[in-house]
Amino acid sequence: MKRLVVLTGAGISAESGISTFRDAGGLWEGHNVMDVASPGGWARNPALVLDFYNQRRRQLHTVQPNAAHYALAGLQQHFDTFIVTQNVDNLHERAGSRQILHLHGELTKSRSTKYPNRVYDIQGTELNLGDKCPGGYQLRPHIVWFNEPVPEISSAIDWVVEADIFLVIGTSMAVYPAASLINYVQSEVPVYYIDPNIPETPFNRPVIHIRKKAVEGMNLFRSEYLKI
Ligand code: OAD
Repeated sequence: MKRLVVLTGAGISAESGISTFRDAGGLWEGHNVMDVASPGGWARNPALVLDFYNQRRRQLHTVQPNAAHYALAGLQQHFDTFIVTQNVDNLHERAGSRQILHLHGELTKSRSTKYPNRVYDIQGTELNLGDKCPGGYQLRPHIVWFNEPVPEISSAIDWVVEADIFLVIGTSMAVYPAASLINYVQSEVPVYYIDPNIPETPFNRPVIHIRKKAVEGMNLFRSEYLKI
């Protein structure tokens, strides 16, 4: 089986009703991104940060995977499929995809503020001040914030260098190191990019651009390029 490696961003979940980051003009659901997605924001106002992610978690219960998530899961019948996602939602899992790396963390998990490797499932939707890890330290959302390391990037690179086909869906390719993954794709491997907008920075390799939203773009990708 050929190996298909997919990099997804907020755009694949847009048609499920989750807003993207940069389309919202620097605001993320009405908040300054640095207030809710940085260690500085957490230090200044942890209650606000917890509340913000509690809202995102509640929203997750009201949205469903869309046809693009399901189409990707369906490709597992034809390819050894690996998904590297920048998204913190669980829509790929809920659509049935299995080999998934969450580069920027997961909404449904918390981690210890003292021991970053200690990650826990969140029961329900709420994480509050006073919720502590077994070691007695405050729990925080298991989200990679700005200026924080991205520990999963080395596993993602390992997948990308082995790709036979590389597919990018719904990301502005503006956030690093995620955006640098395309540089690890072998030169002879075809690269497809489904997104209605072209990023400002060109890539230093040929990329087949499918300028469509994720659902329509996935249909085209399957029929026109994979011929399945
Ligand atoms: P962005 O908000 O930067 O980019 C969203 C992309 O989705 C844009 O290129 C849009 O053109 C595209 N898009 C919008 N609607 C779409 C649709 N229906 N179908 C397909 N594409 C669509 O989101 P990301 O690139 O995912 O990090 O952002 C990367 C990271 O920046 C995020 O993971 C987050 C953010 O800060 C953290 O939270 C650490």
